[in-house]
Amino acid sequence: MNTIRAIELIEEQLHFINQTKLPLEEEILVSDDYERIAIAIERLEIRGAPAIGVAAAYALALSLKNIRKERWSEVFKKALQRLASTRPTAVNLFFALNEMQNVYDQFKEADDLYARLYKKAICIHNDDIILCDKIASNGLNIFTKKVRVLTHCNAGALATGGDGTALNVIRKAFENGFVEHVYTDETRPLLQGSRLTAWELQKYGIPFSINTDSTAAFLMQQKKVDLVIVGADRIAINGDAANKIGTYNLAVICHYHKVPFYVAAPTTTIDKKCLNGDEIKIELRDKKELTWFGSKQITLDYFPAYCPAFDVTPNALITAIITEKGIYKPPFDFLHV
Ligand code: MRU
Repeated sequence: MNTIRAIELIEEQLHFINQTKLPLEEEILVSDDYERIAIAIERLEIRGAPAIGVAAAYALALSLKNIRKERWSEVFKKALQRLASTRPTAVNLFFALNEMQNVYDQFKEADDLYARLYKKAICIHNDDIILCDKIASNGLNIFTKKVRVLTHCNAGALATGGDGTALNVIRKAFENGFVEHVYTDETRPLLQGSRLTAWELQKYGIPFSINTDSTAAFLMQQKKVDLVIVGADRIAINGDAANKIGTYNLAVICHYHKVPFYVAAPTTTIDKKCLNGDEIKIELRDKKELTWFGSKQITLDYFPAYCPAFDVTPNALITAIITEKGIYKPPFDFLHV
């Protein structure tokens, strides 16, 4: 069993894989500075909805490391605001920060506050590992024969505290003899598919190939894709699901080609405050991510550009949502899940 841990807390320091360098370089960064961890989240050195949540919980706990009691309130509030400002779409970030704030509110006068926050962050991480395992076990139920799967972005171990969501379903299915081949969308513009998902698939020994995002329809027309599984950054009560830009295109072409389209995510990705996808805040990224390709400029910097990091797939296009609590089919109603 090949275990990848994108984030690890070792002796009060956060160790994380610098995902911007993969797969060409496997660099581990180490920090106990919440500001540096916030920057890592903004730069996508740490990325993927659940991983962002876990890293932010650790960062918030570490914000009080070596801080005198009289400064706890000021430092904690500053760190909380800073971490909450890093990326707006993945709701797991706000779920984790909220859990940490509850511990702070309850124990802000206690001398062992730092130890309690530290313990809570470890708990959030351990819970995420368990959620990933359960999602994969539940996901196994969608497979009845050997299939070719397509996925978008990276919803694997790199994107979570554990072994992943959508990619962990694929991995478990492969281990049980249900996956023949994985098509990996490159995932423009930051290439989470061709860099990160491909890196993980190679480590797991799963047969795969990478393709441009625009190749997916052609693959389906040629009957080369049996089903699609993706992750999610935020799911509304009605099942509308935000995920990496291009996911909605994929759902539309799945509908046209009658290819089942699955979303796999923990219930911590469900936002009970969002009735539908219109209420999900979509992050806009720097247009340099389009005008440059890595370190090479490919078009004129002053060209106007539109660079949303995510889109929302309407519930009507989703075959089922796989969570740690079970598989949900339309009509979705996540209010009491
Ligand atoms: O911008 P990213 O790389 O953080 O976007 C990640 C995704 O869109 C993932 O599919 C999603 O977070 C699910 S990860 C288990």
